[in-house]
Amino acid sequence: RAAPGRIATEGAPAPGAYPTLRPRRNRRDAWTRRLVAENTLTVDDLIWPIFVIEGSNEERPVASMPGQVRVTVDRVARHVEAAAKLGIPAIAIFPVTPAEAKDAEGTEALNPDNLICRAARELKRAFPEVGLIGDVALDPYTDHGHDGVIRQTRSGDYVHNDDSVAVLVRQAVNQAEAGIDVIAPSDMMDGRVGAIRAALDAEGFVDTRIMSYAAKYASAFYGPFRDALGSGKALRGDKKTYQMDPANTDEALREVALDLAEGADMVMVKPGMPYLDILRRVKESFAVPTFAYQVSGEYAMLMAAINNGWLERERVMLESLMGFKRAGANGVLTYFAVEAARQLRAG
Ligand code: PBG
Repeated sequence: RAAPGRIATEGAPAPGAYPTLRPRRNRRDAWTRRLVAENTLTVDDLIWPIFVIEGSNEERPVASMPGQVRVTVDRVARHVEAAAKLGIPAIAIFPVTPAEAKDAEGTEALNPDNLICRAARELKRAFPEVGLIGDVALDPYTDHGHDGVIRQTRSGDYVHNDDSVAVLVRQAVNQAEAGIDVIAPSDMMDGRVGAIRAALDAEGFVDTRIMSYAAKYASAFYGPFRDALGSGKALRGDKKTYQMDPANTDEALREVALDLAEGADMVMVKPGMPYLDILRRVKESFAVPTFAYQVSGEYAMLMAAINNGWLERERVMLESLMGFKRAGANGVLTYFAVEAARQLRAG
């Protein structure tokens, strides 16, 4: 009677009264659920973006990203220690350039002693086993907040493609020299992946990888990130002449195809949750290492609900990350990385 598979009602049901096909059977016990699980989320899937600031022995919270902070370079190793111990494979470093170091051409991006280069050297020294990802784009360094340089055209200011690429190439080499393992161009200029690849190779950085932000949309979900960097208030206009229109899908495939042809080793779709369809299509079309960025606005949105007690922290965090795996991601850039890794290690 008490055999686990036996129906809980008394007596035999009338023939045909109940379904013979019962998908719930495989969900009945934790062990079958584990056996039939189609996707897994592990610490190996996580990349943690961090922010670094000038100064010493300081940690400044990001108001719109509860739980995330900006740290000075002397604290960056301590900041990353838990992530390294948990086995998070890679860290993405974002610098908060002081206003006085910004100019129209983003010159500070080429300084071998700029924030990201110092943080990279510090992290390589402390955790040689952790991969370092460097964002290549000029917005942290320009006083106008754009990812490239601005030139006058007949119709007004324009983020100039080829002049921008010339600077991005030098920025990439500067980061590689500081120990960045993965160059991640997030600028969306045409031809930048090929130009960066050629320059890295010419300088002997043949094994420096390129993870291109291949399908990056002109999104309202980057707001809290721009707060963290202080690049939001400064931004003149918008980024719609280089970042993609949220209405488009086919165009994302063309962008990915170009970046791969130009030498990208890994591609990224950004933002994350509102663009899972793009992620799925990219993975199915190209079958290359594909990443998603659960961006600042997605984190802010979830944290706001979590901190109000409207959503359950651990569950919603892991479910949102599993969504990326299900859609085809090989990994996710997420501000939840350390928390998620803790949960996943705890089982
Ligand atoms: C820089 C860059 C941005 C993000 C990553 N790299 C902002 C932007 O393009 O305006 C956003 C990341 C996030 O929102 O978490 N080009």
